[in-house]
Amino acid sequence: MKEILVTGGTGYIGSHTVVELHNAGYKPIIIDNLSNSNIRILDQIEKIIGYKPEFYEFDLCEEQKVIEFVNSHPNIQGIIHFAASKAVGESVQEPLKYYRNNFFSLINLLQAYQQKPIHFVFSSSCTVYGEPDILPVTEEAPVKKATSPYGNTKQIAEEILEEIATAKDNYQIIALRYFNPVGAHDSGLIGELPIGVPQNLLPFITQTAIGKREELTVFGGDYDTPDGTCIRDYIHVVDLAKAHVAAIQRMEEGKSAAKYEVYNVGTGNGYSVLEAIKAFEKYAGQSLNYKIGPRREGDIEKVWGDVNKSQKELNWKAKLGIDEMMSSAWKWENYLKENPIQ
Ligand code: UD1
Repeated sequence: MKEILVTGGTGYIGSHTVVELHNAGYKPIIIDNLSNSNIRILDQIEKIIGYKPEFYEFDLCEEQKVIEFVNSHPNIQGIIHFAASKAVGESVQEPLKYYRNNFFSLINLLQAYQQKPIHFVFSSSCTVYGEPDILPVTEEAPVKKATSPYGNTKQIAEEILEEIATAKDNYQIIALRYFNPVGAHDSGLIGELPIGVPQNLLPFITQTAIGKREELTVFGGDYDTPDGTCIRDYIHVVDLAKAHVAAIQRMEEGKSAAKYEVYNVGTGNGYSVLEAIKAFEKYAGQSLNYKIGPRREGDIEKVWGDVNKSQKELNWKAKLGIDEMMSSAWKWENYLKENPIQ
């Protein structure tokens, strides 16, 4: 079985990708320092795939540990690199933490694999486009100046990866630019597990509905959009996980057209915050306690992706719509109520 290293494999997108790698016949091996996840996610993965994936707990910023791992795992053929800090607001407060964590881990990994042929998938973000001039935004759209250190780490990481793939024969790299991942596995056994107060919309919605939060604040009702709230391209996390498998397969099958490639991963559809709330209310069968509040600093007004390139070249397509996103997120929140993971 082909071995794929999944860094950050107990995290939100990582855990779903571990499941999809297994479903596609791969052997996922996880490295995670559990800084934003929980060891019990391994038990949850086991409930879905029937075994606990091989797991190593350490920080990729520790170079020696990365080297030891690489030397003791000579059969790894691909890496999906999720492990990174991702809270936009925190990155503004603590830029060095973000530059240190996100770059040291990436560089240690790349360096440890200098002598081996490796397929590398990188977690990037549509944040690199900033406020796009043309919608839907294509991969050719200009990268705008980052509005946070977090966004900057994604932009610079993409540049590092392009340079290294061009300079060194052994690396074949794909960066996936995610739009807004939401939802959970349809088993209701894994999903987003925010530590503390959720920053993202969907966990805030479900936590409000279940009674963990009193009220959701919609950040801004005066944007230049049909209902005045921001528009995003929400993508089901299981579809997103499958895009990673498709990226690995493209490289494995030798189909890559360049050493470094970039793909948008979204559905191509935009939904406003109020539309997302309405879709949730429909599936939860209850109305949500929310109010319109002030804008959040740094928010993009509207962004959704052109996904033609990923559909064609990755032979992948988002299949799950807003209904499945909401119903699965709600199922997961209800599971957590009965089975808290702390
Ligand atoms: C944010 C980051 C993005 C990052 C992603 C990682 C910003 C500007 N962007 O995306 O770079 O890759 O998280 O997860 O921070 N909203 C509310 N109330 C809430 C929470 C959110 O109204 O309590 C709204 C936001 O204003 C936005 C939408 O919901 O319009 C989605 O927000 P969120 O889930 O935080 O994602 P992004 O801001 O799109």
